[in-house]
Amino acid sequence: MSEDNIKSLKVKRSSRLSGFYRETPERRRKRLVESRWLAPEDAEACAGLGGFDEACADAMVENVIGLHGLPLGVALNFVVDGQDRLVPMAVEEPSIIAAASYAARLCAEGGGFSVTADGPITTAQVQLLDVPQLEAAEAALRAQTEALLAEANALLGNMCARGGGARELEVRVLDATTLVVHVHVDTRDAMGANLVNSLAEHLAPRLASLSGGRAGLKILTNLADRRKVYVRVKVPSAALASERFPDGAVVREAILEAQRFADLDPYRAVTHNKGVMNGVDAVLVACGNDWRAVEAGAHAYASRFGVYRPLTSWREGPEGALVGLLVMPLATSTVGGAARTHPGVQRALKLAGVTSAVDLAGLAGAAGLATNLAALKALSTEGIQKGHMALHARRVAAEVGAKGELVECVAERLSRERVYRPERAREILAEEVHRKGASR
Ligand code: MEV
Repeated sequence: MSEDNIKSLKVKRSSRLSGFYRETPERRRKRLVESRWLAPEDAEACAGLGGFDEACADAMVENVIGLHGLPLGVALNFVVDGQDRLVPMAVEEPSIIAAASYAARLCAEGGGFSVTADGPITTAQVQLLDVPQLEAAEAALRAQTEALLAEANALLGNMCARGGGARELEVRVLDATTLVVHVHVDTRDAMGANLVNSLAEHLAPRLASLSGGRAGLKILTNLADRRKVYVRVKVPSAALASERFPDGAVVREAILEAQRFADLDPYRAVTHNKGVMNGVDAVLVACGNDWRAVEAGAHAYASRFGVYRPLTSWREGPEGALVGLLVMPLATSTVGGAARTHPGVQRALKLAGVTSAVDLAGLAGAAGLATNLAALKALSTEGIQKGHMALHARRVAAEVGAKGELVECVAERLSRERVYRPERAREILAEEVHRKGASR
């Protein structure tokens, strides 16, 4: 955990920044400085590609021919374990950051997100083939557990010094002649892929010899089910009410029907979970994490009972509140990889005040629960197109040159007319500018 991040968590700041969406990117950066979320030099460095250049890229991957940009935004209104947090999100899909911010505001009405998490355990697998006697092999491996863990920890000196290390050995039977050994390793703030892969390669000859078979693959599993995050929220039903749906209890029931649809139908559960991953992945990308690993683990976990199931559940809680829970494997890292080499990633972690890999997992999980709630609420009431089109109208208004309150004015008229062409936006803007001039 960096000193900056510890300091930033101690400063009391509000994650509510009203009218933020109406500002220009430059003005938004200024507001983050004014509200003490960003140091002036970090705000300046955020502009453009944020200091990420061809030399950084060339050191990261192969055959680089250029850079590929994505919008970086911040989701507002997040309160996580009683603390206001800004959530960096890098994503190409419109509405996701707005949806996360909107749902986080509803969740804040009930006290915000509560997060708990398993330890940061990453698991190595060693495949053992042609094992002549499974029971004898299992017994031999189990009898040597302590020695094998000691051997593992001798290799993981640095990780042990940081409080991590090999914790447990597990033997599983796959078929009549195949075993797999799992080595569960606490990798602290690292995702630990390289570390446990090296460990697996190191232990494989000894494991093979104990089993009487031969070693096959030696690699981590991305089904990180010992590295789960649990995020809970309680939204008072009154917070769910809107102008068109004045009874929050009716909205809650509609959301529960949407949950039931996902519970009953894998076709719906996949889309439900896509709405969760909208939030999770955007945070992971902004923070330079391996979102493919998390995606693979999430969907395997969702299918753990043999049927694909939603990663979140919503139910009615005390006093008619809507209560939500997300449980999913979420292996994250705040050290090594892009966290070391990508200046934008370092700033995103700082802006979010991320203190550890487990903390980052909680923040990504909170974002996932928020985007899921926003999607279910919109789908079960207004439909999602209304919100999408309102955002689209604002973008068109800004594109044709509307500034400040004129953005809202032009966007509202475009939405009313259900016409989103730039030519029409230009005409409306000219009329509004003329009207304002005349009324002065
Ligand atoms: C779109 O990116 C995500 C949704 O389809 C999620 C859902 O249906 O729950 C709106």
